[in-house]
Amino acid sequence: MRALKHLREIPARVDGSLESLLTQFSATALELNPSLGLAEFSKRLTSRAAEMMLAAAAVLALRRGDEGEWEIASLAGAVKEQDRGTEKELAVSMANLAASASPLRLGDASKLLGKDIADVLGWGQVVLLRLAGSDGEPLGMLCLADVERAVTDTERRLLEALAGHASVALENVRLFSRIERSRKHWVEDIDAISDFIVVHDKSGKVLRLNRVLANLLGTHPAESVGKDVGKLGLLDSPIQPGHCPFCRRAEAAHEEFVHTAGERTYLISASRIHGAENETRTIHVLKDITDRREAERRYRRERDFNRNILNNTQSMILVLDTAKLVSYANRRCFEAGYREEDLLGHPLVEMAAPSRRPILEEALERTLQGGAIDNLEIPAFRGNGDPGKFSISLSPMRDEKGDINSIVVVMTDVTDASDLHAKLMHTEKMAALGQLVSGVAHEVNNPLAAIVGFTDLLLENRDIPEEAKGELQVILQEAQRTRTIVRNLLSFARQMPAQREPLQVNSVLRQTLQLRAYDVSNCGIEMAERYQEDLPLTIGDPNQLQQVFLNIVNNAYDAVQEVERPRKIEISTWHGKGQIEIAFRDNGPGISHPDRIFDPFFTTKEVGKGTGLGLSICYGIVRAHRGEIIARNNPDGAGCTFLVRLPVSAHAPEAIAVEQAEAAT
Ligand SMILES: Nc1ncnc2c1ncn2[C@@H]1O[C@H](COP(=O)(O)OP(=O)(O)O)[C@@H](O)[C@H]1O
Ligand SMILES: [Mg+2]
Repeated sequence: MRALKHLREIPARVDGSLESLLTQFSATALELNPSLGLAEFSKRLTSRAAEMMLAAAAVLALRRGDEGEWEIASLAGAVKEQDRGTEKELAVSMANLAASASPLRLGDASKLLGKDIADVLGWGQVVLLRLAGSDGEPLGMLCLADVERAVTDTERRLLEALAGHASVALENVRLFSRIERSRKHWVEDIDAISDFIVVHDKSGKVLRLNRVLANLLGTHPAESVGKDVGKLGLLDSPIQPGHCPFCRRAEAAHEEFVHTAGERTYLISASRIHGAENETRTIHVLKDITDRREAERRYRRERDFNRNILNNTQSMILVLDTAKLVSYANRRCFEAGYREEDLLGHPLVEMAAPSRRPILEEALERTLQGGAIDNLEIPAFRGNGDPGKFSISLSPMRDEKGDINSIVVVMTDVTDASDLHAKLMHTEKMAALGQLVSGVAHEVNNPLAAIVGFTDLLLENRDIPEEAKGELQVILQEAQRTRTIVRNLLSFARQMPAQREPLQVNSVLRQTLQLRAYDVSNCGIEMAERYQEDLPLTIGDPNQLQQVFLNIVNNAYDAVQEVERPRKIEISTWHGKGQIEIAFRDNGPGISHPDRIFDPFFTTKEVGKGTGLGLSICYGIVRAHRGEIIARNNPDGAGCTFLVRLPVSAHAPEAIAVEQAEAAT
């Protein structure tokens, strides 16, 4: 710097000697330092060149950046204020001259720069120096106007050397300011990042921290440089001199972990850079993820909540895609016995009974069109493959755009409920019928008794002719038949007083069958009896139960008569789950109206042969014994099976007394 000052003091082109020129040249060269910045560089170059050559004026035109536009960067010497208006034209004409490769030009200003410009500026002669980059592209043009004396050869060469030197310096200035700009940008950029950033060296000395972190610590970024990162107490971490709280594995190139400070949660990352000269820098980014965490937690809670609802409901919930294939099934479906491989990817309609598939198909189609379907009751297969009944609700599910992309199916197994409902209906019907029948039967009973009584009297009357007695006999027979029917009706309506005593079902059965043993063997019917011998007792009325068994056997007898094949009736007993079961299996034609056979007066037999009361009486009796009677066609062969279930009794006398008391109510 002292040398520079000293050189500046040397008078300009004092004697025109080579020595003084060289001194000025080297002073100029030294002064053109790349760290000056473009404006200062331009000013110094123009003024120094003007001084050196004793020029009236000097102008430097520069190409700006990469855009290729030229402007006047500096003016020195005798340039009047009003001449500034011509700057633009001057810049253009200098740019044009720079297009030619020659580094130095001397000549008339009006010829080189144009007459108008030369006139306005009042310039006669000009010296033009071309400044070019290392790639030969023009960077600028220096113009010296009206140099006092003629330019010597030495001066020419010196000027060329000056142009060369200024070119290199100019390129450096540009490079330098670009580096400086990018450094500034970089600092601005990390200061603009809202995450906290701290960079420290191997010994834990802070190299840099960004503005938000400085604000948090109540300092300025520059003030923290050189401090011990362990003493900053970053995010509530304990003070540990020489030890960075966020370096857990100092040898790792990268690490990441979650750190909590008070109520906030941070994601801390450490990246280690091995720079030149063997130093290691560690960059920590401390990102506040409290809100993200909270959102995630809320999302997870919501998801678990939804999943819990789906999996803990008693309904089966399924989701179908637009092809009506099952894409999701909740836990209840699997608990109900369906297997994943039978559900997922399969059409839902496969669950429905084949005859009802078109109905379900149509309902699904309607849902895909946007409709919702509530409580569609449909027979469908249960998880174990048995037929059952389901109530199905269908709703369309839409994506964010509002397009239907799936169907939500809620299915409830209503098999038991609907069975129960049917049974209840039947029981109610029977009770109503019982009342009606018993009323009528009592009314009919008295006149019948009179008919029978008086017919008897008439038959004994000797005054009655014999032919009339034959007709009276018919009246008596028919009246007696009617009485049997009435008695049957009354027992159906359970108007007969019932006994309650412990009894052995097997022996009641044996007695019953003896009643029919004779004609059974006559008709070539094979009767098989398979009894479980240690059957527990039940409480009941032996006569009533005998009537039940007899009715069932009579029906079976009638049924097997209808077929040509070897006729077979099989009776078996067993017990389990607190119940005694008695099965009557025949190989007749099977039941044609399973839903009606227990109705009173329902018969498929010809008039006079059947009354249609047998099974309804059985039904009433078995129900009164708190038992159950079911009929179904044999799944594995011809004919049907009637199943009677009776409760096992604990044979202690008190239990019997209780049962009797309960039965009486
Ligand atoms: N073992 C059986 N096989 C086929 N059908 C039967 C059998 N038992 C009962 N049924 C049917 O049930 C109907 C009602 O029987 P039931 O009440 O005993 O009246 P009935 O015997 O007077 O017809 C019968 O008409 C018959 O159609
Ligand atoms: Mg019958």
